[in-house]
Amino acid sequence: MDSIPANRRLWNRISSAYQHEHDPQIGAAPRLWGMYSIPDEYLHALGDVTGKRVLELGCGAGQWSRALAAEGANVVGLDLSEAQLAAAARAMGTARYPLVQGAAEKLPFAAGSFDLVFCDFGGLSWAPPHLAVPQAARVLGRGGRLVFNVASPWFEACYDEVAGRVSTTLQQDYFGLGAIAEGDGASSYQLTYGGWVRVLRGAGLIIDDLIEPRPEPGTPNGYNKTDPPDWAHRWPAELLWVTHKP
Ligand SMILES: C[S@@+](CC[C@H](N)C(=O)[O-])C[C@H]1O[C@@H](n2cnc3c(N)ncnc32)[C@H](O)[C@@H]1O
Repeated sequence: MDSIPANRRLWNRISSAYQHEHDPQIGAAPRLWGMYSIPDEYLHALGDVTGKRVLELGCGAGQWSRALAAEGANVVGLDLSEAQLAAAARAMGTARYPLVQGAAEKLPFAAGSFDLVFCDFGGLSWAPPHLAVPQAARVLGRGGRLVFNVASPWFEACYDEVAGRVSTTLQQDYFGLGAIAEGDGASSYQLTYGGWVRVLRGAGLIIDDLIEPRPEPGTPNGYNKTDPPDWAHRWPAELLWVTHKP
């Protein structure tokens, strides 16, 4: 299924409201992962990026790319939505970095162009993983790393659409996870644990770690209501995959 045109329309339409609501949280400090803004200094997922060629897949307003450019990485921010890229251009700091419009499904870069490809609820949440993961692997050089954060199957399976919150009851079929309708033909994507392992290994990547970010009780979720409020302290809401290309 080609969700590129619909996802581009969706993000162009919601960009302004999304940044108004979420930019203060996403950009509050450098290197904050996911719905609970857990600092990378606790998770140790990305490591030192100084002098590395880095691609952010689905950079949005570039909060991550801006931070890594300031640390001395040679960052490229890629996003499907021109509205999101315009927000990134407006928010760019003194460490300038290039912004490229494109889709995670068909990356406009030569093989071996990057040392690190990463995203936080970006291209690997919004493009079919069986297309986007091989593309990310292709543009990595040998020894390069693919690191990305997505919602966990637990979170998706327990999401109660009617109540609009994550619950303690299984709501969706685990084996039915796949494309998630986001309205007007737009889709996000989710895989089972086994599905992620197969797609990563199938692209020739080695899995180094699967970090399950665990917020402290009382840490707010900036995006979704959960019942109970400390849901993500008790069950994993996110998967932070750490892989490399041998
Ligand atoms: C939730 S944002 C992630 C960016 C940032 N980390 C954040 O949390 O705001 C998702 C981003 O993915 C982009 N996107 C959607 N589909 C994409 C695709 N197929 N390829 C690349 N980027 C895509 C959207 O335009 C949006 O900027």
